[in-house]
Amino acid sequence: MQKIFNWGIMATGKIAHTFAKAVNYVPGAKLYACASRNSAKAEEFAKKFGAEKFYGSYEELAADPDIDIIYVASPMSCHYENVKLCFEHGKNVLCEKSITINSEQLSELISIAKEKDLFFMEAMWMKCLPAFLKAKQWFSEGKIGEIKSVRADFSNPVEFDPQDRLFRPELGGGALLDLGVYPLSFITAFLGFEPEEIHSSVNIAGLGVDMDEAVILNYKNAYASFVAGFDIDNENRAVIVGTKGRIAFDPWFFCAENVRLYDENNRLSEESLNPHLCNGYEFEIIEAQKCLADGLKESRLNPISDTVNIMKIMDRLRASWKFRFPEEK
Ligand SMILES: NC(=O)c1ccc[n+]([C@@H]2O[C@H](COP(=O)([O-])OP(=O)(O)OC[C@H]3O[C@@H](n4cnc5c(N)ncnc54)[C@H](OP(=O)(O)O)[C@@H]3O)[C@@H](O)[C@H]2O)c1
Repeated sequence: MQKIFNWGIMATGKIAHTFAKAVNYVPGAKLYACASRNSAKAEEFAKKFGAEKFYGSYEELAADPDIDIIYVASPMSCHYENVKLCFEHGKNVLCEKSITINSEQLSELISIAKEKDLFFMEAMWMKCLPAFLKAKQWFSEGKIGEIKSVRADFSNPVEFDPQDRLFRPELGGGALLDLGVYPLSFITAFLGFEPEEIHSSVNIAGLGVDMDEAVILNYKNAYASFVAGFDIDNENRAVIVGTKGRIAFDPWFFCAENVRLYDENNRLSEESLNPHLCNGYEFEIIEAQKCLADGLKESRLNPISDTVNIMKIMDRLRASWKFRFPEEK
């Protein structure tokens, strides 16, 4: 008989709503409980998505003995405390991106997860999507040869709102941790984590977060680049160019359902169509459950070491911009 995993959702903001739909879709997943800092909000969320239990504090959720895994969906600067709370209560965690605000916080959380033998994964859903996995397969089969360049952009114009977490330094705001983490996860999946040089330009504005940035990563034999920002409109495509062809993702590459392979003469040689089964978030849930069923403590598709290496690059970028979050001052 299939094991049913009891999911707890910590924080009931925008992405928690999308994620809850996916939990309700995935076989073997049960949206068992949710928690908000506000009990009425938790109750409303529980009613909307059919959660059996709701709590007016994150502590109560973390302490519920019947939960198998907690999905943390609070703002970036809260992840450290929230994940730690889950670990202290012996809970496995799937935590939203960016997993923490810096490497120091992440390394502490990883030590606790190891000590307590708990599963820990960043909810970088892109890395669990069939289209992304197909691109990795084409690359590893040598279909595009040696990579010469990777380009991936993620900009999403958002009207400035001083209440919005995106613009608030104390909530881990800024385009790099919110958007740039996707192109960085994409680029490093194909070129690795050790660019020889990193060059960038940034626009720090508003309440003092990075509103947008342009980044170039120089690898031994390849270039990679991305633009991320809250005040730039963009197609948000991604393309990997190799010596024998290229792989192209449709706009909004990080949630793309389709991916195409072109040969060196720019002729379409393969197209892979992978419609989402629900809203795309189901694949990371399926992955987390597979890992739990197999007794793994980290994801095969998105290992925590990848998250660590990406965080190091983001730390390096922020250091070059002299941009520190309040907790780092
Ligand atoms: N994977 C994706 O596609 C995706 C998309 C969007 C966002 N995200 C990530 O998901 C996380 C949440 O993003 P979101 O867009 O859902 O944010 P949001 O709508 O602002 O919701 C965040 C929730 O966190 C809780 N929270 C806890 N402490 C808070 C504080 N001090 N201030 C404000 N809220 C606080 C609140 O829930 P309660 O009131 O219920 O406690 C709030 O509703 C971020 O890490 C973000 O990067 C991922």
